[in-house]
Amino acid sequence: MSARKPLVLALVGSARRRGNCDLLCDAALAGAEKAGARVGKLYLCDFDIRPCTGCDACQHSVRKMCALNDDMARLYPLLRECDRLVLASPIYFFTMSGYTKLLMDRFYPFTNPKQPRWKMTRALVCLTYGADDPFAAGCGNAIGAFNDMFTYLKVPVAFVHATAWEKGAIRANRAALRKARACGAALVR
Ligand SMILES: Cc1cc2nc3c(=O)[nH]c(=O)nc-3n(C[C@H](O)[C@H](O)[C@H](O)COP(=O)(O)O)c2cc1C
Repeated sequence: MSARKPLVLALVGSARRRGNCDLLCDAALAGAEKAGARVGKLYLCDFDIRPCTGCDACQHSVRKMCALNDDMARLYPLLRECDRLVLASPIYFFTMSGYTKLLMDRFYPFTNPKQPRWKMTRALVCLTYGADDPFAAGCGNAIGAFNDMFTYLKVPVAFVHATAWEKGAIRANRAALRKARACGAALVR
């Protein structure tokens, strides 16, 4: 009997479908699929994700993961079920996009050990930016924040990032797409 294939969930934090971080994410998913994973991708802009209000209900009650009634009720079960997570974001004003940050803040219930745990064992973050240099782009700020968050959540995280300004310009950056495929494969091996 063959072992169950690991499930990779990808969440894209750009509203530009077939945009740069979406395509970088696709390359990572292609690598993961080739390495034997099942993959699924969702766009955060299709979900109503409200800002965390800091009510702390998730820290004191385990009856609900979150007091807010929004589409995180659909995403929390998927986050609990996946084996690996891919987050893709453009750099907006020197850090991750708003869609992505709204999601990150809603990971707060997972800091309460009494809440249902997620079982994901690794994460990959795909970032794209317009500037030629990742530091000038503000990519380092985003990497720092993702790294701190996943370290706090005890999930090892890897990064792939690349410059690409116009929608789809990442297609010309074959080295970045190759690296994303390799990172996707490494995510499931
Ligand atoms: C509102 C906004 C803010 C941006 N801020 C930055 C920035 O701070 N640094 C940068 O290098 N590029 C910035 N960019 C360019 C995007 O990061 C870049 O085009 C990225 O590849 C877009 O990814 P997407 O096609 O997946 O949406 C910005 C773009 C927009 C629309």
